[in-house]
Amino acid sequence: MLEKVVLCITGASGAVYGYRLLQVLTSMNLSIDLVVSSSGWVVLWQELGLRKEELLKEFPSVNQVSEKDIANPIASGSRLIEYRGVVIAPCSMSTLAHIAHGTNQNLIHRVGEVALKERVPLLLLVREAPYSQVHLENMLKVSKAGAIVLPASPGFYHRPHTLQELVDFVVGKVLDSLRIKHNLYKRWKEE
Ligand SMILES: Cc1cc2nc3c(=O)[nH]c(=O)nc-3n(C[C@H](O)[C@H](O)[C@H](O)COP(=O)(O)O)c2cc1C
Repeated sequence: MLEKVVLCITGASGAVYGYRLLQVLTSMNLSIDLVVSSSGWVVLWQELGLRKEELLKEFPSVNQVSEKDIANPIASGSRLIEYRGVVIAPCSMSTLAHIAHGTNQNLIHRVGEVALKERVPLLLLVREAPYSQVHLENMLKVSKAGAIVLPASPGFYHRPHTLQELVDFVVGKVLDSLRIKHNLYKRWKEE
């Protein structure tokens, strides 16, 4: 059976992380359910010049699900437990807050809630600068509830030369958290 991952893209800056994850995960033949929030589509356009039709055309194997489709199978624990994990990349402070407080307004919040209750790995690639106390408290809340909070902040110890290398460092960290093997960045002291 194909390994399955839910990938959610929200309206934080860093749409490129979600886009690169799509490239990498589909190239590994993983089965992807993709949920993009309405703000996520706006930022994909603002930052990458990508419209919904173009993105979906580029990744025909991806199962795109509307953020409004609250009856989708991934909203149910009995189905989500079949997944390797749920990745929200990038994750806005708004989506973080909804998951931290269990106030579901769309399918992304619901999938986050279900992942926590079913102990399905949930990874939030958060992006904001600076963080307010509210943001930090919400991160602590979801972390205590079992989520992995990964800041969209690349390291520089691998001496990157290109933007792609910086993006791949962060995307590699996401894959590390899901225990998916990759060669996206050079590990510390790796030849
Ligand atoms: C170009 C752009 C960049 C944004 N960057 C961020 C950001 O880095 N972090 C954040 O929390 N919100 C950011 N926002 C605001 C979110 O899109 C907004 O809070 C939205 O309601 C989030 O909704 P969602 O979580 O359903 O996607 C940005 C908005 C735009 C248009």
